[in-house]
Amino acid sequence: MDSSKQKIVLTGFMGVGKSSVARHLAYLLKCEGIDLDDYIEAEYKQEIGEIIKEVGEARFRQIETDCLQKLLQDSNVRILSLGGGTWTIAENRRLIKKYEYTSVWLESSFEHCWQNIRFSKKERPLARSKVQTRDLFEEREKLYCLADWHFIVRPDFTSFDTAKLIAEEIFCKI
Ligand code: S3P
Repeated sequence: MDSSKQKIVLTGFMGVGKSSVARHLAYLLKCEGIDLDDYIEAEYKQEIGEIIKEVGEARFRQIETDCLQKLLQDSNVRILSLGGGTWTIAENRRLIKKYEYTSVWLESSFEHCWQNIRFSKKERPLARSKVQTRDLFEEREKLYCLADWHFIVRPDFTSFDTAKLIAEEIFCKI
């Protein structure tokens, strides 16, 4: 595919740094980048953590799929960072394929993600205890593996370094 037309979604576990990498990537490629959670929060005028606590995970997943579809239909969005659970839903993977987005898995160790989750200001109702979050991490790995590309997020790399690597590898730029 002509790399100037290529559109990507970034997936990976909570705390891996999808949103920051997407922001840098959009800057490097001079294109529009959007974070799905930010979009949902703007649409519903509520934080994701609050939505999940108020309506439950199942309803949140429906909202997430609706918003994902709206963003995928908008061809101006070339870089889309997903929530950690978005890619694990078969319907979402089908939509991502249908709208011809390339999927990129940002992979890291559980400990790295967990440290970021613990020290982040973002409320994550699905990552309450370390044990339960580790189980979720292990359960999801086999689904993240289905993404088109895998990038290991090195702990000594900044999110800008990771974005540069993706830009070089996938878009042959910079
Ligand atoms: C979720 C991840 C969160 C957010 C919601 C659910 C998940 O996004 O969408 O709390 O199921 O893994 P981040 O991956 O940006 O933390």
